[in-house]
Amino acid sequence: MVKLSEKHALVVGGTGMLSEVSLWLMEMGYQTSVIGRSKEKHDRLMKKATHSDLMNSLKVDYHNHSLLEEQIRKSIQKYGPISLVVSWTPSTQALEIVNKLVSEYIKHWHLYQVKGSRRYFNDDILNVPSNCTQSSIYLGFILEGNHSRWLTHEEISAGVIQHIQSGNSESLIGRIHPYEKRPN
Ligand SMILES: NC(=O)c1ccc[n+]([C@@H]2O[C@H](COP(=O)([O-])OP(=O)(O)OC[C@H]3O[C@@H](n4cnc5c(N)ncnc54)[C@H](OP(=O)(O)O)[C@@H]3O)[C@@H](O)[C@H]2O)c1
Repeated sequence: MVKLSEKHALVVGGTGMLSEVSLWLMEMGYQTSVIGRSKEKHDRLMKKATHSDLMNSLKVDYHNHSLLEEQIRKSIQKYGPISLVVSWTPSTQALEIVNKLVSEYIKHWHLYQVKGSRRYFNDDILNVPSNCTQSSIYLGFILEGNHSRWLTHEEISAGVIQHIQSGNSESLIGRIHPYEKRPN
């Protein structure tokens, strides 16, 4: 039976450091399609979800473009158009496939792209469809006195959620400068 959802989100790489973002989207009532290869990671996320009925596990390697396309298209047909995508992937090609597919089914949608600090200085070019509002969340580091460290998963997810709620076109979690103080 087709179960069309009013709110359908997709999290590319949503079983790792963005797990809390996937769970938050479910709490917000989004049917949430989550991409990641490992069944164990999907199972762990599913166990944590208080709204596990809203989780749609897409166990696919996003480098397998035909399977990626098939799985996303099936999800859209089952749950309705995707209006919100959160992406943590270094693969521009995979993300452009997602962009093209999502755009086919909806008038307007949002892409929240999570990016490592390298891309703050030297970003990859991404083809963004005209019906998509794209925004970037850069991951920096934390400086505590003389000591610096990378962000925790909790800090990353909380920063991404804050960014989505803010409506900003760009956010930085932590700091990028002074760049020479970043952790090794
Ligand atoms: N500035 C910072 O502080 C900063 C920046 C970047 C990273 N980090 C840290 O570095 C750690 C490692 O980063 P990570 O990139 O491994 O992040 P991660 O979020 O732990 O894992 C990546 C996510 O993408 C999925 N994924 C990876 N390759 C995939 C593929 N080919 N197809 C489909 N899904 C795929 C993973 O699931 P599967 O493995 O199951 O596919 C997982 O859900 C993170 O834990 C984070 O704390 C810190």
